[in-house]
Amino acid sequence: MTDTAPRKILVTSALPYANGPIHLGHLVEYIQTDIWVRFQKMRGHDCRYVCADDTHGTPIMLRADKEGIKPEDLIARVKTEHERDFKGFHVEFDNYYSTHSEETRRFAETIYRRLKERNLIAERSIEQYYDPVKEMFLPDRFIKGECPKCHAKDQYGDSCEACGATYSPTDLINPFSAISGAEPVRKESVHYFFKLGDCADFLKTWTRSGPLQSEAANKMDEWLSGGLSDWDISRDAPYFGFEIPDAPGKYFYVWLDAPIGYMGSFRNLCNQLGINFEEYWNKDSQAELYHFIGKDILYFHALFWPAMLEHSDFRTPTQIYAHGFLTVNGEKMSKSRGTFITAQSYLDQGLNPEWLRYYYACKLNGSMEDIDLNLEDFTARVNSDLVGKYINIASRTAGFVTKQLQGTLDASYWLTDEGRGILEGAVGSGFWIAEAIEARDYSKAIREIMRIADSLNEFVNAQEPWKIAKNPDQNNLLLNICTRSLQGFQLLSVLLSPFLPNLTSRVAREFFGMDRDFLWSDIANPPKQIAPYQHLMTRIDPKQIQALVEANKPSLEPKPEPAPHSQARHAEHQQHAVEPISDTISIDDFAKIDLRVAKILNAEPVEGADKLLKLTLDLGGETRTVFAGIKSAYAPDQLIGRLTVMVANLAPRKMKFGLSEGMVLAAGPGGKDIFVLQPDEGAQPGMRVK
Ligand code: MSP
Ligand code: ZN
Repeated sequence: MTDTAPRKILVTSALPYANGPIHLGHLVEYIQTDIWVRFQKMRGHDCRYVCADDTHGTPIMLRADKEGIKPEDLIARVKTEHERDFKGFHVEFDNYYSTHSEETRRFAETIYRRLKERNLIAERSIEQYYDPVKEMFLPDRFIKGECPKCHAKDQYGDSCEACGATYSPTDLINPFSAISGAEPVRKESVHYFFKLGDCADFLKTWTRSGPLQSEAANKMDEWLSGGLSDWDISRDAPYFGFEIPDAPGKYFYVWLDAPIGYMGSFRNLCNQLGINFEEYWNKDSQAELYHFIGKDILYFHALFWPAMLEHSDFRTPTQIYAHGFLTVNGEKMSKSRGTFITAQSYLDQGLNPEWLRYYYACKLNGSMEDIDLNLEDFTARVNSDLVGKYINIASRTAGFVTKQLQGTLDASYWLTDEGRGILEGAVGSGFWIAEAIEARDYSKAIREIMRIADSLNEFVNAQEPWKIAKNPDQNNLLLNICTRSLQGFQLLSVLLSPFLPNLTSRVAREFFGMDRDFLWSDIANPPKQIAPYQHLMTRIDPKQIQALVEANKPSLEPKPEPAPHSQARHAEHQQHAVEPISDTISIDDFAKIDLRVAKILNAEPVEGADKLLKLTLDLGGETRTVFAGIKSAYAPDQLIGRLTVMVANLAPRKMKFGLSEGMVLAAGPGGKDIFVLQPDEGAQPGMRVK
């Protein structure tokens, strides 16, 4: 790969939904992209990285509703949170925008109009479930009912979590709206469709022109040979999104304007910096356009998006780079295991974001395979590679240079053949490392970088500068050894810059006294002096990882009572201190709670938990285990055989002591006065509580 003329490159990451926090899964993508973009910039290319929040759609509208705020306020708040999280992980966008913008609206309208002119928009009436209480059409995920195959209750409108069956919402038995609980009715309405089938020939040609990884291209062949059906791009009001031109009450489906948000964000950047937008997006554009995405959204980016662009006279992407999903300790991220880790909690625990950047880099190889964050391996790998190998080179030799050699390196000095060999070899590897990063095979790049670090450490071990430093007559030799190893350290720092931007910026500026960050060309620009070595990176303490996982587990154990001497305790020292009533919930929220009468079959103390009893409950045929913080109020014997009320549809949660499959309801000031029992007359286990 030669670097003659700078390339014009536009890079995007998928736009995160504006209704949830950034988590470690998302970061696989944003960190991967950021590394690539930083690399391109270090190479002197004209590279821009844009992104935005994906703000439209029903879930965001309903979420805002629930919080009692306007969608505009919700998306503004979430955008601030997302930007804070990205910054925290050194993900540096040239522009971070929002799909709810005039730029995006304009492009959405333009593209739609052009598709319509080309006769690629169809209009027809379809029948869907409608919530008569909420007065809105229901997306599949907002309809629930009994699975038509296995008869599990409370399943989503598109698939059953119990037996895995997929079906259409109209197949559900006793369907109800997950929003209002009302029985949905079928209702007709006109929808607009993008005629994807008419784009099949173009898509076949496009796929063969090489914009996809081989795994993705295979998927495309599957989709193309299966036949492409029309894509429903409209939704009825109420909907948070852009109204379709000349179609009052009809809105663009969120996935229509989402990728257009890439253009919107870039247009906004162009306005700020005076960049020529057309040069990047016109059909004959010579600029390169790359979309980094997760494999779950390949369908949208490899089918709909290029077809939309092609037929509305815009250029198509140069490449789509799809990656796999993150697992933690070999399993899907899970809230109950504490492995659904948010970006914010990682940073709040004081963990270094560059540890994660480095670990992801070790794992990413440019394919669509899933990548695993094994927390033990994470600790071992970061400690051994970054602290034990890379940083170690500087910390072992810098002291001699600053204390005995006035901080000056001798750039012209080449003494031992061995030292020279390592450095020349390393400069040569820079070429292969660049190729690997360009191909997004970061794991290969890192392997090569650590191989250089190993040979430098071996060199220092063999030369034993700490012995030579004792003899003032050998200052020249000492200078030589230290120069070689610190030149090596500088080289490693250049190569690691895309991965560890913050650390290497400090190395460049504070340690080597430069007035800028490293450029790739600094490989051939050996350092001439150093400042006294300052601590650069700490090891990961396994305790920090434990704390991180604990912090991400749902809190279950009853909160400890305030200590007898605390202020709060004194202030509320009345017989029945009453807590303030919490924020209101809607009747819809309440309707989601399935309250049942349960018979307590058994109650026993739990070893190691002084407030908990383990209850075995009969729900009229089904037995559940529930841990309840009621030990201070009841002896097990008082409970066995009695009735209580439980939340039967609470998702099971893993506690230190076992799985808790629901929650019993109790109220009272605490201590001996917690009331959990029901009158025993007239109730039957399993009965619904109204
Ligand atoms: N809003 C859409 C993308 C629109 S792009 C025009 C979306 N948002 S998302 O928030 O769900 O995901 C954003 C990106 O993060 C996607 O590329 C998705 O694949 C990626 N990831 C989300 N969870 C992930 C993991 N657990 N692991 C790896 N990547 C993940 O999809
Ligand atoms: Zn089922």
